[in-house]
Formats: sequence, C-alpha cells, structure tokens
Amino acid sequence: TTIEPIPQPPTIPFLGNILDIDQELPLSSFKLLAKQYGDIYQLTFGGRRRVFIAGVALVQEACDESRFVKSTRGPLDQIRNLTGDALFTAHHDEENWGVAHRILMPAFGPASIRNMFDDMKDILGQLVLKWERFGPDHAINPTDDFTRLAFDTLALCVMGYRLNSFYTESSPPFVTAMGSFLAESGRRASRPGILQLLVGSKQYEEDMSVMLQLAEKIVAERRAKPTEGKDLLNLMLTARDPVTGRGLTDKSIYEQMITFLIAGHETSSGFLSFTMYHLVKNPDAYAKLRDEVDAVLGEEEELRVEHLGRMVYLQAVMRESIRLDPPTVAQSVQPKQDTLITDAANGGKQYQLYKDESVILLNHCSQRDEKVWGEDAEEFKPERMLDGKFEAMPPKAWLPFGNGARACIGRPFAWQEVQMCLATLMRKFDFSLAEPGYELHIKQALAVKPAGFKFFARPRSTTA
Ligand code: HEM
Repeated sequence: TTIEPIPQPPTIPFLGNILDIDQELPLSSFKLLAKQYGDIYQLTFGGRRRVFIAGVALVQEACDESRFVKSTRGPLDQIRNLTGDALFTAHHDEENWGVAHRILMPAFGPASIRNMFDDMKDILGQLVLKWERFGPDHAINPTDDFTRLAFDTLALCVMGYRLNSFYTESSPPFVTAMGSFLAESGRRASRPGILQLLVGSKQYEEDMSVMLQLAEKIVAERRAKPTEGKDLLNLMLTARDPVTGRGLTDKSIYEQMITFLIAGHETSSGFLSFTMYHLVKNPDAYAKLRDEVDAVLGEEEELRVEHLGRMVYLQAVMRESIRLDPPTVAQSVQPKQDTLITDAANGGKQYQLYKDESVILLNHCSQRDEKVWGEDAEEFKPERMLDGKFEAMPPKAWLPFGNGARACIGRPFAWQEVQMCLATLMRKFDFSLAEPGYELHIKQALAVKPAGFKFFARPRSTTA
C-alpha cells in the first residue's frame, strides 16, 4: 500500500492555518474541518504541524500505548507551572507520576468512593436547598451551581476542607484564582514566548500563590490536628509507594490537591449541565428516568448508596450524554517513534506520523462517528447504552475519560457524584427550560460547558 498525504486546508505564509480556528470556540472549527477533510487532517501552527483524528478506527490506532504516549504540549505544559509533575500534567516518562499513581489509585477505587457518599450528599443538600429557596419562578443557571457543587465536593472529599461556595455570591478567592490561572494558561499556550515577556506575569504568579497557600494551610492544619480515617489527604501524608518505597513530598501533595480541583471541577459541572440539557430537551427520556428514580426510591425520602446500582436507565442517560458532549473534547498523544497509522474504516489507507509530534484525538467527533453509531449518531438516545450494547461496542468508541495508564483517575468519583445529583434532582424537582426555544450553545475553556442554559426548578412536593 502507498502512504497517503494527510489532508490539510490551504495555509497562509507565517500564519499557517491559524485563521481556520475560531479562537472563542476551537471545537466548532475542529468539527467543521472534520466534515470537510474527513477522519484525519493536519493543521500548521507556528511552523509545526498538528494531526487531528476524528474517526473511531484511527482513534483505536492512536490508543495503542506501545506506540503512542500522552502529550502535555499546549495548555497542560502551562498548567505545569503550578502542578509540576503531579498526575494530570506529568510527562509520560516522569518517575513521580508512577509513585503518585500507585499511592493514589486505591483511594479512587469504587469502594473508597462509596465511603464518600455522605460527604457528597452533604454538599448536594446545599444545592437542593438553594434551588428550593429560589422557588419555581427563578431562572436558574445550573452550570454555575454545578461548578460550586463540584468544587465543594472535591475540597471536602479530598482534603476535608469546606470551600463554602454556596454561601457566597461571588466565588471564594481560591476559586477565582483558579479560574484566572486556567484562562491565562490557555492564552499562554497560544502566545509566542516573546509576547509573554511584554504581557508580564504578576497576576499569574499571584493566582498561583493563592492556591498554593491554601493547600499549605490545609496540610499544616491537618498535621497540627491529625484526624482518624483514611481520607485522601491522610493517605497522601502517610502512604508509601510499594514499588520504590517512597512517599509524596509536601510539594507534591500540594500539587496533587490542586490537580484534583483543576481536573474535577469544570468536567463534572459540564457533565451535569449537558445531561440536564439533554433531559429537558427529550421528554421521553426525562419521564423514563424520573419513573426509574421513583420506583427505586419507593416510599423512602433519602437517597442511599445502594439505590445507585439499581438505576440502570440513569446509567444509560449518563453514558449517552457524555458520548455526545464529552466535557474534555480532545486529548493529545505523541508517537514514540516514526510510525504509520492505518484507517481500517476507510479502505485501510495509511498515513505517516513522526516521533514526538502532536496527534490530537477529537473525542467529541469520534464519539459521533456515524460508521460506529449509525446515522442517528447526533441524537440523544439512552437506549443505545442499554441491554449489553454499551459493553459490546467497538473498543475506544466511547472515550470520555481518556485512555490506558493516563486515563482519568477521578472517573468513579465523578460518576457517583453525578449519579447522586441527577437522581436527587429528579426526585425533588420538575424542570423546564427558562427560554423554551433554547438550543445548545457551548463555551470552551479547558473543558466545555453549555452557555446561556437556564431552567426553572419547581419543587415536586408543591405540585402534588
Ligand atoms: C485525567 C476526563 C473528572 C482527576 C483525565 C483525562 C480525561 C478526563 C479525558 C485524560 C486527559 C489526558 O489524556 O490528557 C474527566 C471527565 C470528568 C473527570 C470527563 C468528569 C465527568 C475528574 C475528577 C477528578 C479527576 C472528579 C479528581 C477527583 C483526573 C486526574 C487525571 C485525569 C488526576 C490525570 C490522570 C493521570 O494522568 O494519571 N480526566 N475527568 N478527573 N483526571 Fe479526570
């Protein structure tokens, strides 16, 4: 077989393909280019090419960990200014990644996450109370409150700290600092280095120190007043890596703590928001889910951890929502050596990739690949995730939590948090769009979430 050239839109001298990308919503350009150029295309930025992959067959190739490793090029390398070689931003060959991964994996397993049920419920109760107090005529922006939920839940479960963001109109300083830090990290990733010197770093440095100081304070307080039990912070303070015998340094503990907050807040909040959007737009699915929650809870007032496993339709709704709208729209890898990839779904065409160049897997596109999901791939249909169909789908067709060794460590955490939240909301409220004709608009930062999405939440007990 011959090696095919990778399709590319025309370039402009010096600028390459920069004008092909919508700076506000890069995702919209990536999707459009996939429609025009197919499952693989390349773009040139700053004289370097980036390869984009939008079809499942090619994603399967790029998930082969013997040939490809995670790449941190772009925003992640900027976030490293704060989180160093902690789990999310570690380079593929850094030793501390392995140490932290082995120490922390058990603490993020399903059994440990079940133990966090009561703390998660505590914060969820604050969200429910707030929406009950708003009453049925207040247009709620759920994304903001889901972000509060995600932040406060992480802070409480990971380090026993109450951020109390439901009790402040503006964000707590830590949260503000993180938002500003992440936005600037994104801008830095696309700004030439020389410009960086002109823009300066004062605010950036300040934001980082706000976050580090809080992490230091929490660790110092825990050392001064030790607690019983095996929460994540205690584990990080005491555990030893079984392979190297090493523990985590204080610096690494701060970096891991901040990492969980970075990786877990926008993603979970986006996941909840998109799912609520799909539910209010699809009355049949909504009614089925509400019936299931009512049937499982029966006469009981309170959600218990045992209920979750019995909510099969809820699971399908979540799998389908995150298929259509994965909060992390893409992930990057790089070839360990020059290599060829084969597109089995398009006549076995082969393409040349080079060592260390960026290959970007567009999860948002591959999870809507019609060759796998059918012609209705763009529609919200939880039924396609039921009755063993989820388990039977092709490998890597559903990839919202990443791949292999570098996949999301927080998946069981996020899954339980979102299950609990959705089940509780179905039980407590009736939802309707605040603006009946609303169609999904997306806002993109490190993760994506709906923009301008608002609903009314009518307490169900008052309508009965
Ligand atoms: C990694 C998605 C929630 C912590 C990842 C990756 C994805 C992802 C796609 C791989 C990134 C890459 O390849 O560069 C999500 C989604 C979430 C979610 C969609 C919610 C719906 C969370 C939560 C936490 C978390 C709640 C923390 C408690 C991490 C960490 C990594 C990671 C530490 C890096 C793992 C490693 O490389 O060892 N996540 N995540 N995530 N996530 Fe999540």
